[in-house]
Amino acid sequence: MIQRNYSLRPFNTFGIDVPAAAFASFASLEELQAVLAENAGQLPLLILGGGSNILLTKPVQALALKNELKGIAVVAETDDTIDVRAGAGEEWHGFVSYCVQQGWGGVENLSLIPGSVGASPMQNIGAYGVEIKDCFVSLEAYHIADGRVDTFNAADCAFGYRESVFKRQYKDQYIILSVTYRLQKNPVFNTAYGAIRDELQAMGVTELSVKAISEAVIRIRQSKLPDPKTLGNAGSFFKNPVVSKSVYEKLAASHPDTPHYPQADGTEKLAAGWLIEHAGWKGKQVGNCGVHTRQALVLVNYGGATGKEIYDLSQAVLDDVFEKFGVQLEREVNIL
Ligand code: FAD
Ligand code: EPU
Repeated sequence: MIQRNYSLRPFNTFGIDVPAAAFASFASLEELQAVLAENAGQLPLLILGGGSNILLTKPVQALALKNELKGIAVVAETDDTIDVRAGAGEEWHGFVSYCVQQGWGGVENLSLIPGSVGASPMQNIGAYGVEIKDCFVSLEAYHIADGRVDTFNAADCAFGYRESVFKRQYKDQYIILSVTYRLQKNPVFNTAYGAIRDELQAMGVTELSVKAISEAVIRIRQSKLPDPKTLGNAGSFFKNPVVSKSVYEKLAASHPDTPHYPQADGTEKLAAGWLIEHAGWKGKQVGNCGVHTRQALVLVNYGGATGKEIYDLSQAVLDDVFEKFGVQLEREVNIL
């Protein structure tokens, strides 16, 4: 059932209070089709998962559709692998916990990322050396204009760093219904990210396990990232910029300590958090919002900030980093 003029405050982790022209939730394909029939193409759609990667800068002139498609099921199995399909409305961390509890490896480095399973392929979520593309099998998505369900494999999704076709050529065309991931029964652990090794050591772990890595990742995240339940935020507001070797070398000449991660194609990934911190923004408060004290990539709402205030702060940070380092940052969060 569609409701009109509905506050989206509980549906975005920045806690921005703007109304949507209309709101409905759906827990099955049939319910989705019924809502779309009721809307009859009158309003454009905004698909909502956990609202942890959006910034609402103005009233939403759309039908906001909260995805409540649930269910986790094993759909295939070999001696070594398990394919698990999860409804798009399942919480991502709930899905990870389910896999970790069974001892199935693949998503433990992605523990505690907020949001829904359905949004996980949108930007190919990643953390601590792993991205979902590494264990993605396929997804099912509803084509809004044609009313058919299409299946996408990994190649179809064209995953990149915080990228997929759903942010590019298929933007706003599909509603992701379910995602299938392949987990390993005898996992190869990924502890390449230095912070994980340090944390495992601090925990006194001598034998690696899916559970220990998940626990280490949870501890690191809790120490650095603000919990949206107590401080509004959407995780990293900017992407880490990928620049040519010559741009990096120019920067390194004046700032030899800037962190950099050589990429397979010869480019260099820089740490946006470092650039923002060294431009002097870390911990800075501007009105009701600011740059987080422990992670400069994260913008926070101290209470009552508008989306426009946060957007303006992000622009000031972008401009200043460009002026000081000649590096153009790009926003990761979806601006609406
Ligand atoms: P939403 O914010 O609801 O939606 C994001 C976008 O996807 C919107 O454009 C929306 O319309 C679209 N969308 C959502 N669901 C569907 C669907 N079913 N079909 C079609 N379109 C859909 N991200 C990382 O990659 N790595 C991290 O380590 C990380 N850490 C974070 C830490 C914190 C504290 C926070 C708040 C966020 C973090 N994020 C991280 C960002 C965020 O958690 C992810 O991007 C997550 O996948 C967003 O899920 P969501 O359900 O909240 O998406
Ligand atoms: N750094 C600083 N100052 C800061 C923050 C970071 O100097 O305030 C430096 C660190 O010292 C380190 C480097 O930047 O040398 C990288 O920092 P960190 O390991 O904290 O990771 P990040 O690059 O800031 C990325 C992702 C996170 C993800 C972590 C862990 C992006 C945009 N962000 O952050 O993803 O959880 O790595 O893998 O790629 C998200 O996308 O929302 C998100 C939180």
